[in-house]
Amino acid sequence: MALLIQNGRVVTPERTFAADVLVRGGKIAAVGPNLPADGCEIFDAAGCLVFPGFIDAHTHLDMDNGVTATADDFATGTRAAVCGGTTTVVDFATQDKGGTLARALAAWHKKADGKSSCDYAFHMAVTDWNPAVAEEIGEMVKAGVTSFKLYLAYDNLRVTDGELYEILKKVGQAHGIIGTHCENGDLVNEKAAEFRAAGRLGPQYHAPSRPGYVEAEAVARYCYIAKAAGVPVHIVHLSTRMGLEEARRARARGQKVYLETCPQYLVLDESRYEAPGFEGAKYVCSPPLRSLDDQAALWEAVGNGEIDSISTDHCSYNFVGQKDLGRDDFSRIPNGLPGIEHRPAAVYTAGVAAGRMTENRMAALLSEHAARLFGMYPRKGTISVGSDADIVVWDPAARWTISAGTQHHNCDYTPYEGMAVQGRAKAVFLRGELAAENGEPVREGLGSYVARGVSEYY
Ligand code: URP
Ligand code: ZN
Ligand code: ZN
Repeated sequence: MALLIQNGRVVTPERTFAADVLVRGGKIAAVGPNLPADGCEIFDAAGCLVFPGFIDAHTHLDMDNGVTATADDFATGTRAAVCGGTTTVVDFATQDKGGTLARALAAWHKKADGKSSCDYAFHMAVTDWNPAVAEEIGEMVKAGVTSFKLYLAYDNLRVTDGELYEILKKVGQAHGIIGTHCENGDLVNEKAAEFRAAGRLGPQYHAPSRPGYVEAEAVARYCYIAKAAGVPVHIVHLSTRMGLEEARRARARGQKVYLETCPQYLVLDESRYEAPGFEGAKYVCSPPLRSLDDQAALWEAVGNGEIDSISTDHCSYNFVGQKDLGRDDFSRIPNGLPGIEHRPAAVYTAGVAAGRMTENRMAALLSEHAARLFGMYPRKGTISVGSDADIVVWDPAARWTISAGTQHHNCDYTPYEGMAVQGRAKAVFLRGELAAENGEPVREGLGSYVARGVSEYY
């Protein structure tokens, strides 16, 4: 049966307008005023904004960091995602050392296929570059994996500058896009060793072991190497004013640089590491939480269009049994935060309701830009005729409080505990099916794989 979402206000990056949305066969069939309701199931969106389904282009589900595996797998992580309004995730399939990209892709399909409650795609993290792997890049693109991830930190994952240059060129030939974790891994190792040698072992030493210039140096180096390779670049989880300034310099030279930040860098700050006892471990992620000045710089860049997307870097570890692996040494605390469920509410509250950005920018940052950058547009990321009917009916007046007790993340805490938020996904439709309502799952396991085209380099 066709579905008619009536009386809402449709949000696009350009404007907000009153319109009904007709859905047929999982696709958007019409958008306009007073559409005929004959034979349709009706959803009343009066008082609500109607957003394109949100896309989270940075998740780590069912990921083993070599010591422990994330608390969320695809079943729990994507269930939490749809409850918050996210209808597509792009997760990081990761090559094992000595392994092939094909094997990593098969492993990630096994983790996700048949278990996901929202649609999903994969970036491919390249960790072991060699001529045989280079030959696989074209195969990845054919399989719909058109974006790649590189790390400049983490000894078990990072590539050298020479490898970075080669990979940028090879992926660029296939019109793929590379998102890079920009921190100088050697400096991080040296700084962490200095703190450990001085007996400074608590979570409060995590942030000073990875200062802002560690990010800025890596952003600058990445951009210069991309200039040498002649390709556009994407920078994931940008966290500092200094890093932003390096990206601005590259743009001023004429380079195409796409920037992602995450809610944790916008609404949390480094003072969290001073929490009593071992509580600061709950906020250990890399890059770390930053200063209020960094936060202000990121908000300005979000508001003025310099930042292109906000994704979560959802990488959940339980406080008990996982974060406490680093109780005696901050550098052993598993890095990462949960957030896949709470991104839309956190961004709406601290961004739109607080007057720092419009709902239209929210549609761009949480949906359309990721769809364009990662080759899913216009199938995803827009409320347009012919697009997948991934739709979030957003109640801007809802008020609630984020808490681990009510979240759907499979994690024993949330870094946003006690945050009073405004706005909530009243209904979430995945290809026309009601997947979640009022923050609770309705139908699980509806997700399917999205084979992506190449980036628009928009
Ligand atoms: O701390 C984080 N962000 N962990 C996940 C892996 C990464 O660096 O993106
Ligand atoms: Zn990273
Ligand atoms: Zn990440």
